[in-house]
Amino acid sequence: MPDLYADISNVPPEIQERLAGVLEARAADARQKEMLNVYLSEIAFPMGARVLEIGCGTGAVTRTLAGWPGVSEAVGIDLSAIFIAKARELSKGVRNISFEIADGRSVSLADASFDVVVVHTTLSHVPEPKELLDQAYRLLRSGGWLAVFDGDYATATVSTGDADPLNACIDAFRSGFVHDPWLIRRLPALMAAAGFSVQPARSHGYVEEPQAGYLLTWIDRGADVLVQNGRIGGDMAEALKAEARRRSAGNEWFGHIAFASILARKAV
Ligand SMILES: C[S@@+](CC[C@H](N)C(=O)[O-])C[C@H]1O[C@@H](n2cnc3c(N)ncnc32)[C@H](O)[C@@H]1O
Repeated sequence: MPDLYADISNVPPEIQERLAGVLEARAADARQKEMLNVYLSEIAFPMGARVLEIGCGTGAVTRTLAGWPGVSEAVGIDLSAIFIAKARELSKGVRNISFEIADGRSVSLADASFDVVVVHTTLSHVPEPKELLDQAYRLLRSGGWLAVFDGDYATATVSTGDADPLNACIDAFRSGFVHDPWLIRRLPALMAAAGFSVQPARSHGYVEEPQAGYLLTWIDRGADVLVQNGRIGGDMAEALKAEARRRSAGNEWFGHIAFASILARKAV
């Protein structure tokens, strides 16, 4: 099963609507907000900064950027017309924000027109990450900042012991929904190859306990992938989903994934 976000324009509208809900729910999670705040705080936004988010989805991160100290204008671009329509709806009344449908690998915006470019949980979904990084470099002013935040998806687990069956769902989600789960580990080299001066990566540990949160969506979507791939039947999928809920209801849930942020600058 291909990564849905990598080919989002061809995903049925009802599934895009569901993903839009997942994106907004994830962005509302206090720990997700904290990780965003931590890495944005490491960027020296110039006064009056113009900021671009590539792969903005429903615009949750772009909305935060629009309200960030020093930011005069925030622009979000995404491949999905459905996400962009939602992003516009959710930011009604915010005067310094705009959204456009665009492919981050070939953007028509002007050279050197942004002070900061943010790519938040998007690059691992892009089959040609170097093309997107080249665009970010072109769009930044000299001295401008690139911030990439993504899951180090290989670390994701809800395991409570060896051969925990729920890990089959985690594995299936990872291979079904993320184009390159290992991207974060080769990202510093890719950013340097695009011309950036790269700062050390920061790891953000995301722990869910004793009840399930975002990682429960991995169980549900992973179980569905296993059914679609003919690996298990529908009853087994329902049993796996029920087991996840049993643990959560009994305060026995433990999920972990490490995210990473990597900042880089275009030379002055
Ligand atoms: C996991 S979502 C993250 C959305 C948003 N950054 C957030 O954190 O809520 C990944 C997003 O990347 C978008 N995307 C994937 N490939 C893209 C590309 N080549 N250009 C622009 N957006 C892309 C998808 O449509 C999707 O909205």
